[in-house]
Amino acid sequence: MRDTTGLAYTPDIAAATQPIYERVKRVIPAVEWPFHAPLVHEINRLKGERNAVILAHNYQTPEIFHGVADIVGDSLALAARATETDADVIVLAGVHFMAETAKLLNPAKTVLIPDTGAGCSLAESITAADVRLLRERYPGVPVVAYVNTSADVKAEVDICCTSGNAVEVVESLGAPRVIMLPDEYLAKYVATQTSVEIIAWKGHCEVHERFTGDEIREFRGRFDELIVIAHPECPPDVLEAADFVGSTARMVDFVADRRPPRVLMVTECSMSDNVAAASPETEFVRPCNLCPHMKKITLANILDSLRTLEPQVTIAPEVADRARRSVERMLAVKPR
Ligand code: 13P
Ligand code: SF4
Repeated sequence: MRDTTGLAYTPDIAAATQPIYERVKRVIPAVEWPFHAPLVHEINRLKGERNAVILAHNYQTPEIFHGVADIVGDSLALAARATETDADVIVLAGVHFMAETAKLLNPAKTVLIPDTGAGCSLAESITAADVRLLRERYPGVPVVAYVNTSADVKAEVDICCTSGNAVEVVESLGAPRVIMLPDEYLAKYVATQTSVEIIAWKGHCEVHERFTGDEIREFRGRFDELIVIAHPECPPDVLEAADFVGSTARMVDFVADRRPPRVLMVTECSMSDNVAAASPETEFVRPCNLCPHMKKITLANILDSLRTLEPQVTIAPEVADRARRSVERMLAVKPR
């Protein structure tokens, strides 16, 4: 069998990739593995040749997440771990703002994003000019930007946050009022966890905004002992209907620690697959929604990126210096 990159599924490749297949066999049918295995094998070989690491977000498909990634996690972990690598090349299997964050923290390294069209509805909901207008409207009020923003926006704000540290970041500012952008629902969720007054922007994640509280209640009616864990980018009625709210990394930890018999992860689809691969005793109830941006990253374009060292992420130096400060301030905030 030969795939579109000209690589063949040989007995040697079948044997070499068997330990990886063991990790994903619960979520990737055996009939599909011959298509993934030659790419997985070649990417892992080429990583050594290039002195490259692959950082993969929790929403990447299992063949990427379990097959070729060196570092996996939520956007906070990917930002923090990006500062620790001594590789020459970083491939970001995630969306563009994550690759920009890796580049901000590693200006001298080559940072690759296999598809430059891997965007984010939140990052696209606000511009640097919008932030300057907000500052005029609320003089002296500090501005916190979710990392799901462009480097241009990060350059205009005081500090960044992720869904994993938003409350700590807001409280670290010691201010009575804080502007949080661009995710309205994350801002509303943070407002329920702190006495700091939160001024929100009206951006939404196109994946999480589609879930509804009625949908969660309907699932509870259909499945006994269902534990519902939701990402804070979901609308408030979904979060009220959930048993636990947390970033993608906290959702992973929740399942690993509590080992619930049946779980509904209210987030992107691949997340359930990746956790299911490692949690055989838990039943994962679908549905989930797909992020079309995350799904632009494939084994084929990761391989292409490693072969060509393109497309590279570049950020204008005058923007990069200011944006980097916002990310570094966030990384200096102590987790609770
Ligand atoms: P996390 O920071 O929880 O990984 O979320 C990133 C993201 O894009 C969620 O939609
Ligand atoms: Fe952006 Fe939502 Fe996709 Fe995350 S899931 S990258 S927030 S569109």
